[in-house]
Amino acid sequence: MSSLLVDNIGELVTNVPAAGGDGPLGLRRGVALLVEAGRVVWIGPARYAPAADRRIDAEGGAVLPGFVDSHAHLVFAGDRAAEFAARMAGEPYTGGGIRTTVGATRAASDDDLRDTVHRLRDEAMRQGTTTMEIKSGYGLTVVDEARSLRIAAEVTAETTFLGAHVVPAEYAGRPDDYVGLVCGPMLTAAAPYARWVDVFCERGAFDADHARAILTVGQSAGLGLRLHANQLGPGPGVRLGVELGAASVDHCTHLSDADVDALADSATTDGSTAGDGSTSGDRQAGTVATLLPGAEFSTRSPYPDARRLLDAGVTVALATDCNPGSSYTSSMPFCVALAVREMRMTPAEAVWAATAGGARALRRTDVGVLRPGVRADLMILDAPSHLHLAYRPGVPLVRQVLHNGVPQCRL
Ligand code: NIG
Ligand code: FE
Repeated sequence: MSSLLVDNIGELVTNVPAAGGDGPLGLRRGVALLVEAGRVVWIGPARYAPAADRRIDAEGGAVLPGFVDSHAHLVFAGDRAAEFAARMAGEPYTGGGIRTTVGATRAASDDDLRDTVHRLRDEAMRQGTTTMEIKSGYGLTVVDEARSLRIAAEVTAETTFLGAHVVPAEYAGRPDDYVGLVCGPMLTAAAPYARWVDVFCERGAFDADHARAILTVGQSAGLGLRLHANQLGPGPGVRLGVELGAASVDHCTHLSDADVDALADSATTDGSTAGDGSTSGDRQAGTVATLLPGAEFSTRSPYPDARRLLDAGVTVALATDCNPGSSYTSSMPFCVALAVREMRMTPAEAVWAATAGGARALRRTDVGVLRPGVRADLMILDAPSHLHLAYRPGVPLVRQVLHNGVPQCRL
């Protein structure tokens, strides 16, 4: 079996904190890392590194777990650059543009959608993303939601059924009828290709009763739960997500004290109703707050209060929300830089949230960390430390990516 040694590492981010307490990133220096059969099999002092068939010289660069982007909408056609320009000229973001993308997506061929998914997934990988969640939500018919998920499933196991993105034009004024379709034939067609179910719970999209109905029936179909909540204004979404045991509530821009308390409590209390069906009572079963600063950047909106969440003990993840309307970026390094500069996260908190935090939001233990046994998903930076991700914003610092132990070459 072929082995691969990564050595000459400037700094290794493991996300496995040492007993002595060196912070959440579990930083190690002077170590090398051995990969076999797509897994990390050894991490230890470089001078004791086992012989290997191949070697990658990290040239003193930092090595980190690959980013885990736990929130992206990649199955769509067309773009909304004009809508972005109008926003930058003062128009507000309402989510209404979703219907524009729905029209373009329905009209697109499978191959057009597939090309976009692959292009954006490759673009993200070049920037260090090795796990990516991908939602449907721009089809909004039985056939178009199923095909969106079928295409997404070609590139990721983390697929999410978002039939409840908006009420499509043909159901205008009949939201109950549309929710019936989502809960019935659409879910049946989508579920074979989906791991998760999601709802855009927001004024102008779906209310708490609709969200509860869709999430509950999705859970019965074996799907884990996630929720777009409290993006455009305050509302019941976050608390509903926690109550139902969702793995993550996403956006979290407008939170009450009760919302923050509910999230904090979920991280410490028994998760017996966890949305992925797990009965674990550990923090893994809590509800993660996934923050999406690309959306606030691209809609020129106030950023979520990350410090308030972190100080309350909430588990925070960062993700791109890559979509053609509110956040057309696939760049996790950009989100890390925004989180540090605009949301007062420390560089260590932001890097953790973009790697281990994303893994928590997807209830994954095999990615987002580097220790023997996990998937060999990692990136090598053209920089000596993780600090440079925020310190050098906009610079393509990712020199090499290993995905399942396979070098993606000089990207
Ligand atoms: O997460 N909030 C709902 N969905 C996306 C926006 C999609 C769009 O504008 O096309 C979001 O921001
Ligand atoms: Fe989203």
